[in-house]
Amino acid sequence: MPNQKIYSGKAKDLYSTEDENVIVAQYKDQATMLNGARKEEVLGKGKLNNQISSLIFRQLNKAGIKTHFIKQLSETEQSNVKLAIIPLEVVLRNVVAGSFAKRFGLEEGVKLSKPIVEFYYKNDDLDDPFINDEHALFLKVASAEELAFLKAQARQINIILQDLFARIGLTLIDFKLEFGRNQAGEIILADEVSPDTCRLWDTDGNHMDKDVFRRNLGSITDVYQVVLEKLQGLEENE
Ligand code: TMP
Repeated sequence: MPNQKIYSGKAKDLYSTEDENVIVAQYKDQATMLNGARKEEVLGKGKLNNQISSLIFRQLNKAGIKTHFIKQLSETEQSNVKLAIIPLEVVLRNVVAGSFAKRFGLEEGVKLSKPIVEFYYKNDDLDDPFINDEHALFLKVASAEELAFLKAQARQINIILQDLFARIGLTLIDFKLEFGRNQAGEIILADEVSPDTCRLWDTDGNHMDKDVFRRNLGSITDVYQVVLEKLQGLEENE
């Protein structure tokens, strides 16, 4: 049935459409952390993230990455290809930060000699634990070939996004991706790419991402607005 809510997530609700292969993602005015343990309404966040994510997906599609993004429908909504989501968070790190800094007792800000890709098992009851390839195979979430493909995709997307953000004066510290399979079993980039799912630092070391919320550094909508305007400026000049 069209227009039925089929999933309610922390940052987005998903709706069915007339076409069984297409869904509508509605970005919400909500910020969460610690697997939803801290949850706040943030007015205007949904439209900022939908616009940023739509713009980034357009850039990734243009660069030849297969994504679920079809088009932006409104300020808060975009249409996406319906996928069966692979329960893995694929994290790529260029610079030491966040849980990586904590896990290894390192200072944030140290550049890694080579980007590192990590997998986390998407499971709210388990708080999305860090897993390795063999765990992923044991859990039957993906085959060895698919895991290799996910890592290669993350590295390729990293090159595109690093360049994109560098052009607006931001360093891409790390990011999280999610993928799904389409009807033909092809693996396609899903979910969102936004300051909720990336760490972005400006040249003065300011956080231009969700760490502003996580660390109580100020207003995330002010920061996301800056990121959006810079990206829009770039897209307009293409
Ligand atoms: P982490 O340092 O907390 O592991 O986060 C690594 C990157 O992944 C960072 O850019 C934020 C992003 N991320 C999400 O998008 N969702 C999540 O649930 C987590 C834990 C991280």
